[in-house]
Amino acid sequence: MSPLTELPAWKALQAHAQSLREVHLRDLFAQDPQRGERLAIEEVGLYLDYSKQRVIAETMKLLIELANQCGLRQKIDAMFRGDRINLTEKRAVLHVALRVPRDAVINVDGKNVVPEVHAVLDKLSAFAERVRRGEWLGYTGKRIRNVVNIGIGGSDLGPVMAYEALRHYSQRDLNFRFVSNVDGTDFAETVIDLEPAETLFIVASKTFTTQETMTNAHTARTWLLQALHDEAAIAKHFVAVSTAAKEVEKFGIDTMNMFEFWDWVGGRYSLDSAIGLSTMIAIGPENFRSLLAGFHALDEHFRTAPFERNLPVIMGLLAVWYSDFFQAETSAVLPYDQYLKRFPAYLQQLTMESNGKTVTMDGARVDYQTSPIYWGEPGTNGQHSFYQLIHQGTKLIPCDFIGFTQTLNSVGVHHDRLMSNLFAQSAALAFGKPIEQVLAEGTPAWLAPHRVFEGNRPSSTILADRLTPETLGKLIALYEQSVFTQGAIWNINPFDQWGVQLGKQLAGKIEPELRSSDESHLQHDSSTNALIRRYRQRRMN
Ligand code: F6P
Repeated sequence: MSPLTELPAWKALQAHAQSLREVHLRDLFAQDPQRGERLAIEEVGLYLDYSKQRVIAETMKLLIELANQCGLRQKIDAMFRGDRINLTEKRAVLHVALRVPRDAVINVDGKNVVPEVHAVLDKLSAFAERVRRGEWLGYTGKRIRNVVNIGIGGSDLGPVMAYEALRHYSQRDLNFRFVSNVDGTDFAETVIDLEPAETLFIVASKTFTTQETMTNAHTARTWLLQALHDEAAIAKHFVAVSTAAKEVEKFGIDTMNMFEFWDWVGGRYSLDSAIGLSTMIAIGPENFRSLLAGFHALDEHFRTAPFERNLPVIMGLLAVWYSDFFQAETSAVLPYDQYLKRFPAYLQQLTMESNGKTVTMDGARVDYQTSPIYWGEPGTNGQHSFYQLIHQGTKLIPCDFIGFTQTLNSVGVHHDRLMSNLFAQSAALAFGKPIEQVLAEGTPAWLAPHRVFEGNRPSSTILADRLTPETLGKLIALYEQSVFTQGAIWNINPFDQWGVQLGKQLAGKIEPELRSSDESHLQHDSSTNALIRRYRQRRMN
């Protein structure tokens, strides 16, 4: 037994979950006519309704006891203090410092990092404005029309998601593209209709050694030089965002054109660092600062609010509740907003690269479940593909519905129709349709079982007024801090990602083998050897 599963609160939750297993949300709502309002919290402009979760007051009390027994408060304080809580990489975890006001003080090794954060923000703002105003010219004197972000993982998913989410606020005469995959198709299709003389590449990589990004960056360099025929053009068409000045220099980008961030910013937590440069160029520095203000407002809420009213703490504890006490394997995130179409993909890295771990901080194997699999698509599209399984399948899938009371594109009845679908789905999942009702509607007995909805399928609904930069900041930080809460309970390190290394190393070994015909070098398992041989025989030369 691990220390976690021995905690009194954990044991109490196990017994409590047993007693709730057969309790239906229909009954919980019938017993408490005010449940829908009582189990809802409004903080920092976000309304979280968790009344359709399979919890009662006792559940929340026990979950909060669990948080206390796991030292959540102390762990939060340690992060905000700048302690090196990323133990396996011996680093502080301070993405929260990226969004504090100018006069805040956060020390890392006795040095206040806030002035540096704001100095980089100022440099980014000046650059972004020059591009937006058409003052940053390409090598031939033409105005930059296309901004292409080259990055992967946190250096791509954040920028793409934020650009898509805030497109409404973007400068429409600039064209934003994102290249991530090492598959050459990604680069080829991205630049197919772009004019090199009007294109600015942002090479975004914390380490500046990531294979995919470096491959794409070199390809971009060749593509540009094929058109402009002069190395001097690089300085006008390439900027870098990185923590690794030496690597940037090695690539041939002038470090004057480099925007830095720091090792205490994890890749998947870096959207609000210089990695957000493409977002800033798109929406402008002022909107970018509103985005940061949204993050900060949520951080402050997380840091100071009592757990009973703490949005990310409640969301994080609910994730633990279903993963460990209901054996739910996955969790769906369902934004009812087309602008948030990349939000689930972004959350996949945030949640699963953070908490997809099997050992505790001390290196012991866990004997409980850690991160659920996060997935999702925007509503209403998902309703016509996978919702069937959420409603009638054999799996329990807790859902987060996200919606806005005001649309950014008021077109006829669309928004009311969109939101009526959101509200209908969460109600249908919770309350279902019992067999008696199906029969009473005149359904023949043989067909009735197929038309029954068991209900009791849990969800939260998060509502905000409008998708603004500030709201987006709050939403992202909400999930970041929920992930932190989950990691704190599970006593794992949400800030390393050793699990990505093995595949990278193997790929490095295999690549030269694909181009060689030397059989003696193939010393893999029989499956891998056979796949390599087949590829060698059939690859294009
Ligand atoms: O391979 C995983 C990873 O290290 C992510 O954590 C990170 O966001 C991504 O690669 C990109 O890394 P970098 O910004 O250093 O290129």
